[in-house]
Formats: sequence, C-alpha cells, structure tokens
Amino acid sequence: MQKIRQSAERAKEILLANDRGGYTVPTAGLYPYQWNWDSIFAALGFAVFDRARAWQEIETLFDAQWADGMVPHIVFRKNDPSYFPGPGIWQSNTDPMSSGHSQPPVAASVILTLAKTGGADDIARARRLFPKLVASHRWWHDYRDPDRTGLVGIIHPWESGRDNCPDWDLGMDRIVVPDDLGPYHRRDTDHVDADERPTVQQYDRYLTIVKFGRECGWDHRKIAAEGPFFMADPGVQFTLMRGDRDLLELGNLLGEDFDAGEIEDWIALSKEGAQQMWRPDAGAFVARELRSGDLSTALTNASMLAFYADAGTPEQLAELAGHGGEILDICEYGFPSWDPRDEAFESRRYWRGPVWSVMNYMIAIGLEEHGHAAMAARLRDDCLRLPDRSGFYEYFDPMTGEGLGGPDFTWTAAIYLTLGGGRAAGDV
Ligand code: DGY
Repeated sequence: MQKIRQSAERAKEILLANDRGGYTVPTAGLYPYQWNWDSIFAALGFAVFDRARAWQEIETLFDAQWADGMVPHIVFRKNDPSYFPGPGIWQSNTDPMSSGHSQPPVAASVILTLAKTGGADDIARARRLFPKLVASHRWWHDYRDPDRTGLVGIIHPWESGRDNCPDWDLGMDRIVVPDDLGPYHRRDTDHVDADERPTVQQYDRYLTIVKFGRECGWDHRKIAAEGPFFMADPGVQFTLMRGDRDLLELGNLLGEDFDAGEIEDWIALSKEGAQQMWRPDAGAFVARELRSGDLSTALTNASMLAFYADAGTPEQLAELAGHGGEILDICEYGFPSWDPRDEAFESRRYWRGPVWSVMNYMIAIGLEEHGHAAMAARLRDDCLRLPDRSGFYEYFDPMTGEGLGGPDFTWTAAIYLTLGGGRAAGDV
C-alpha cells in the first residue's frame, strides 16, 4: 500500500469539517452526534490552534449534564436517521436529549492540562466548569459504587467506550434477550464493513440493556442493583482515578473553595478497590463481572492505564510493564485492544484487537511518569505513523497498520495534532 504523508494542516481540516457549530461529531455518517469522550479529546486537538474553540467543545458537552451530575455518552441535538439507536430509543426526557449512561471520565484531566498551559481566559473557563466536574465525579462514586467498594461499575459496554471488547463477554453472556425486543435496523454497518463492527448477537444485548434503562426511566440506583449488566472496567476505573487526582490538583490550582477531603477519600478508596481487578495469571488488571466476581482473562489497552492511574503496587506495575513489552514486540503497531496471543483476538474488529490513538495517548503519559520512556515514545510514535501510513481512521490493525472503521476521525486527528504530528514537515 502506498504511504500517505499526512499533515497537521489535514488534521486541523478534519476537526473543522466535523464541527457542527460548537461541538464536533466523531465522524460524519457513522457517528452524527456529540460523543462524550470524543469531545474531550477533540478539545485537546482544537487547543493546538484555537483555545476558545477547545473550551467551547467541553462546555457544550457539559450543557447536557443531567441534574444528578451524570454527563451522558451521546448528546442528541437534532434527530439524524443515519444513526441507530437515536433519541427515540433512549427516551432520556432531558433537554437536550441524550443517551442514558456515561462514558470514561476524562474531562478533569484534559481541563487540568488546558488550565496549566493557558492564560487568564483558560483559568476563568476552568473555574466555571469546576463545580460541574466535581458533580460528575461524585455521580460516578455515588451511583456506580453504591456499596463503597472502591470499584465503580458500568451498566453497558458502551459506557466503557470499548464496546465489543472480549472483556464484556462475561457480562454479555448473562443477558437474556427478551422476545419483545422487536425488529430494528442497525445503521453502523451501512457505513462500515460488518467484520469491523460488533456482531448481531452483541447488538441484541446492547439494546436489551437500553430497553431496561428506558423502562425504569433511567433510574440509575435500580439499574446498578438489578440491571442486566454490571461490570467493573479498568478503563473507567483508571480514568476516574486519574481524573480524581487531576480534579484535586485543578481545585488547588484554581484556588477554589471545595471539599478536598471528599476527593482524597475517593482517591484512597479507589486505589484499594482496584485490587479487585488484579488477575495474577494475566499479570494485569482486568475487567470484573460484579454480580459473580468473575474476572476477564487477558490484558487490554485499558489494563495499561494502570500507570496513568497510579494503581497497584510497584511489583504489579513492573509485571504489567513486562507483559506490555512482550505484546508490543509481536505487534507492528501498538497498543492492541486485546492480547494478540489470546484466541479471542481479532485484528480488525473494533475493540477486539485494533489500536486506538486516544488510549495510546493516555497510556504513554502513565508509562512516562513511571520511568518507561522508551515504551511511551513507541506508543506516541505509533499515533503518528498510523495516520501517516493509512489516513485518520477511527482505529487501526496492529499487525498491518490498515485504517479501519470511520474515516476522517476527529479524535485520531486531535491526538495527531496534540503529539506534534506533521510538524516536522514544517506545516504546523
Ligand atoms: C456505537 O454506536 O457504536 C457507539 O460506540 C455507541 O457509543
């Protein structure tokens, strides 16, 4: 395949083309609404050339925050039939309409980055968002860890953002699809090859969970206690742990009057709780099915966020770095979303193997902080090499580098810009 030389200019064009007026879509067609963590990473990319626009991206997302503090995973500002399931299926009864669960809480970390690298306007805008951020973290700890175990749960694989990772097979196998689920028309496979997307069986289960949530009016206490799916995700747990620390630092930086003790308690409890995800024979933190206590089987790119979260003991982190290095040795591009040595690995199928730039971005920060500079550099470099080779795709085959999923993807372009992609060619 011919190598394409991408540029920072092209990445910027993608962000601007995906702008729908104050918020970006992840990619046209496949994802025509505002997605939670996509927008937060988009803000990082915008910040490279337009800081006001970066803040606007985060502010529009938080405009859709629920009264209880939850920041939803999709914000539906207008109906677009090219996506399923749309607002009529979720029935959130909020204004704007949204989906009924959240996504990995990465906002506090990105806002801290913007506040630390900016000027007076950045500080003022961070200050306005701070109470909303605290409320969103409190929501995770209160609603998703009602028994205060130190481990937060997710109620849908979509809440992890890693939709069809084999991590969720344990929870998905427990779901009984009701006879009255009804016929539906998936739209994702109108845009992307079916072998790069979740299966029909998985979609039936995704919609079974949405049906349960809709029918109980998105009562999150009830969903956590009785819903069809409740699992702990290393991705959500570790981004929340990092986010709690960054929230505390942000509050101090801004000189806010806030309850630092509350956040310190979250940090201490979560560090202890994360131990429930350690799987000795995988040498990694893995997903946990919360009703049975069963653990998933293999190391993922979310496991590698333990460094970012500063989870675990020094011995556990050393073991994890060893396993991570072995996996990188057998991949042309890292970090894969599932261990390629495991039979469930599929190099092209969404979160069952492919590489995702946003995960690399966070993993690399954690690795660098823990003294693994070479591995961090390799992952950052892969976030530039992959688009240079294949274009700004949603995700990439770790063995061949082929671009997969949606094209001209906002967060792939945003991370490319953030990491300085294309600038060596002098085209900032
Ligand atoms: C999808 O529709 O595939 C999304 O990932 C759900 O968030």
